[in-house]
Amino acid sequence: MQAGIESISIYTSQYYLDLKTLANQWGEDPDKYYIGIGQEQMSVPAPDEDIVTLAANATAQALQGIDAGALDTLLFATETGIDQSKAAGIYVHELTQLPKNMRVFELKQACYSGAGGLSLALPYLLHHPDRKVLIVAADIARYGIGSIGEPTQGAGAVAMVLSTNPKIMAFDLESGIYTHDVMDFWRPNYTDEALVDGKYSIKMYITALREAWQHYVDVTGNSFADFHRYVYHLPFTKMADKAHQFLVRHANAELRPEEWKRQIDDAAIYQRFIGNTYAGSVFVALTSLLDNSPDDLTDKRIGLFSYGSGSVGEFFTGIVQQGYQSHLKKAMHQEIISERAELDYETYKEFYLFKSKLPTDGSPMRTPKHNTGRYRFAGLTEHQRLYEVVA
Ligand code: HMG
Repeated sequence: MQAGIESISIYTSQYYLDLKTLANQWGEDPDKYYIGIGQEQMSVPAPDEDIVTLAANATAQALQGIDAGALDTLLFATETGIDQSKAAGIYVHELTQLPKNMRVFELKQACYSGAGGLSLALPYLLHHPDRKVLIVAADIARYGIGSIGEPTQGAGAVAMVLSTNPKIMAFDLESGIYTHDVMDFWRPNYTDEALVDGKYSIKMYITALREAWQHYVDVTGNSFADFHRYVYHLPFTKMADKAHQFLVRHANAELRPEEWKRQIDDAAIYQRFIGNTYAGSVFVALTSLLDNSPDDLTDKRIGLFSYGSGSVGEFFTGIVQQGYQSHLKKAMHQEIISERAELDYETYKEFYLFKSKLPTDGSPMRTPKHNTGRYRFAGLTEHQRLYEVVA
């Protein structure tokens, strides 16, 4: 028996900032972003959007054509928590009308928690083959106006229905794992902007890749050549180039640049425009690969690396299933990204700063209406968040 992805869908906010606009604002060469970090645009959430609305949109899409009655678990992976106690997934459960006999809880470890959720879901499904698990990962990457991390912001969600009928990808159970306590990126409870030691975080990412890969090789005996494509956590798309170049050298694989680039490039197409989606990033990249690969990936083994600062890394693997193309939502995903409206710098700043205007004293507030897909964050009253289904 196998377990894996029966359905997968991504969603991102309907507004974006072109990084040329950011470059003009700060007097940088746009190529520093377009070429240097491999990012052209970043999605920017509207004031009436948050991780719940992003996640609910992705969930509604992923559930199309699925028997939701078999779902008994929703794992919500995020580092953009909206409450210290209540799981954001409970709002998503209500908004998308999921069955009442479910468990819902939240997972956190920076960008790693989506992959962490998968490691819990797979053995669970193999013990309960008639059930399904929903993993939703949603995040809004915020580093601060004018900060070093500003061009690597973004927002988005991915929802995956996992079951023992993996129509898209079946995961292998063995993986390589690594944990090391480092301060490369973190966000104390009193701030909603991440603190980061940028160059050090890149080094820590590569260290975690090396260690998780080595553990994977030791556990499985598999080697670099066993993989057709590689999918990486993408804080910015150039990170995959750095990581894969490292792995190629480390594994003594003799590949020309166009050969190793071919192993990673289709996975970076969506994130070049969306930006960092933290916990969901490696699965947004997987969706990009599956949607955009010109070759048939049937029966091909894919290597995936998830990295969460702080730090945890996992190298895990899956096999693409026969007929997978007919279960993808490629046209929907491409439309969501291409239909976004461009923001000028002032409007981006206004959207960004809106969060600080939310009342913290319990007084009521209605959020202004923007395009947020099917769900919106309608405001606050008595310290409670209000959500609406958009007609
Ligand atoms: P920076 O100092 O602004 O940029 O920081 P830089 O000066 O290092 O330039 C970036 C690249 O652009 C360099 O290339 C330059 O040479 C090149 P590299 O040496 O790296 O190959 N460049 C140009 N190229 C072409 N034309 C030009 C030009 N100018 C320069 N004119 C940094 C960049 C990514 C560090 C910063 O944006 C940052 O701190 N971002 C946030 C942290 C981050 O994304 N870290 C990634 C690893 S950690 C991770 O993935 C976890 C994370 O997702 C969080 C989580 O787990 O929750 C972040």
